[in-house]
Amino acid sequence: PKALEERLKKSIRTIPDYPQPGILFYDITTLFQDPEAYKLAIDHLVERVRPFRPDVIVGPEARGFVVGGPLAYALGVGFAFVRKPGKLPREVVTAEYEKEYGPDSLAIHRDALLPGQRVVVADDLLATGGTMGATVDLVRKLGGEVVAAAFLIELAHLGGRKFLLEEKKVPEVVTLVRYSGEG
Ligand code: PRP
Ligand code: MG
Repeated sequence: PKALEERLKKSIRTIPDYPQPGILFYDITTLFQDPEAYKLAIDHLVERVRPFRPDVIVGPEARGFVVGGPLAYALGVGFAFVRKPGKLPREVVTAEYEKEYGPDSLAIHRDALLPGQRVVVADDLLATGGTMGATVDLVRKLGGEVVAAAFLIELAHLGGRKFLLEEKKVPEVVTLVRYSGEG
């Protein structure tokens, strides 16, 4: 709903030219500092995700943890950690993706989920979709079924929704707040 989106936008800070000139940075630290906004955001995301009946929520570090963790808790399902390389102690599978400054990779424990489990992947923000694309690849390498991707924020002009739906064949992309370009 529009009112929810407007309320959440009030608590999201925008920083011009960060981390480099020409980039408008959407800062969610202020949303998470605002207890009413944080609760509203998570409660709404929970109700948007519930119909997908996930068995597990999977989220990439670091900001994906503060969205995916509460989502899993509220839905009464487990949460699986996707981390940068070298952070997980047992056997992992990895996936490569493109970030602004070149290739990067993400990892998940091989035993983080069971084949056939329904998975909702969750993160704070959808930009190009690279991070979530790699997260989806990891889930599928373990035999999980990605049933939806959920985000608080979508930067629509960066094409992440199309990338996930068309290139990555993610069935549904759910976002609460949408920006189309200049704030
Ligand atoms: C940010 C953000 C998303 C991703 C979105 O994470 O939290 O995960 O970028 O961009 P994309 O759709 O183009 O991949 P970042 O890699 O900065 O790491 P962090 O969450 O650890 O801060
Ligand atoms: Mg992130």
